[in-house]
Amino acid sequence: MKANSYYNLKFESGKLIYIDQTVLPLQENYISTDSYVRIAEGIERLELRGAPLIGIAAAYALALSLKNSQDFKNDFEQAYKRLVSTRPTAVNLFYALERIKSKFELIQDLNNSFEILLAEAKLIHKQEDEYSDRIAHNGLRIFQKKSNVLTHCNTGALAAGGFGTAFAIIKHAFDNNLISHVFADETRPLLQGLRLTSFELDKNEIPFSINTDSSAAVLMQQGKVDLVITGADRIALNGDSANKIGTYNLAILCNYHNIPFYIAAPSTTIDRNIANGSEIQIEYRSGKELTEVKGIKVAPEHYSTFTPAFDVTPSHLITGIITEEDLFLFPYNFIR
Ligand code: MRU
Repeated sequence: MKANSYYNLKFESGKLIYIDQTVLPLQENYISTDSYVRIAEGIERLELRGAPLIGIAAAYALALSLKNSQDFKNDFEQAYKRLVSTRPTAVNLFYALERIKSKFELIQDLNNSFEILLAEAKLIHKQEDEYSDRIAHNGLRIFQKKSNVLTHCNTGALAAGGFGTAFAIIKHAFDNNLISHVFADETRPLLQGLRLTSFELDKNEIPFSINTDSSAAVLMQQGKVDLVITGADRIALNGDSANKIGTYNLAILCNYHNIPFYIAAPSTTIDRNIANGSEIQIEYRSGKELTEVKGIKVAPEHYSTFTPAFDVTPSHLITGIITEEDLFLFPYNFIR
């Protein structure tokens, strides 16, 4: 597939350079830093977001914590603690940090630790790029005909390796003349669909329109949606899947309207330590994300809010889960 004109992040001249997703699509600003603290803040503020991308960024950040270190063990421990507490739901963060930690624990001469951990972070990054290509390939199997697809949140290059997860399938299917139109849910309250998915669809010249999250039911009732594909932040062994708030609504709507509902994610999003979705920790974000829009107050701050950033879709509502390994159909059992 032809490369994008923008990139999510890259490691160059000893620094991580990443696009600031909070100001897209109106501004394409890149942030350059070699500070793990700055990257941790970037993850919390959603400058860097999307489950696989959070993992990649955290791996680079943990390696960077040793760049100018005089006290490797202590610096590593501080950085690990800071990064592991940035966001609780996407399991990719913990997968990447554990992988870097295991590597660190095997290092004999800690004077080489920065280079060794940086090489491991680059491997994690490369692996996620490859997974994206394979997800795109496996995802073609869900198309019976040229289709209209609805998606939620953002699952493209801005959220993962390569061309992303669900987005990589959409792009590959479009390139194979299997997509007529993409409906992008705006994705309240932080508008990842309106701002980021639309940006990526536009850059890739894929026909799309943006709809409010609450219009998805009407689109389905009018027979305009052939299938829904979203990403995931954590998948339990039975297939229960956490994803951006509103995904569960979509799965219920699909069930009612008899529309296939698919999840696409790399195997690094499967949490092999949990049997079902009840064990997934859901992130709750600041009420200000509802009462303010771009820093402008639209409701008094003291109003009570309900702000889960993710929901869990029960596996029986998911027609299929596409990973780099295969297309899995309900019932799921990811134990290996
Ligand atoms: O809060 P965000 O923007 O990090 O949430 C991201 C999502 O929910 C994505 O759908 C998910 O991470 C899949 S990314 C390929």
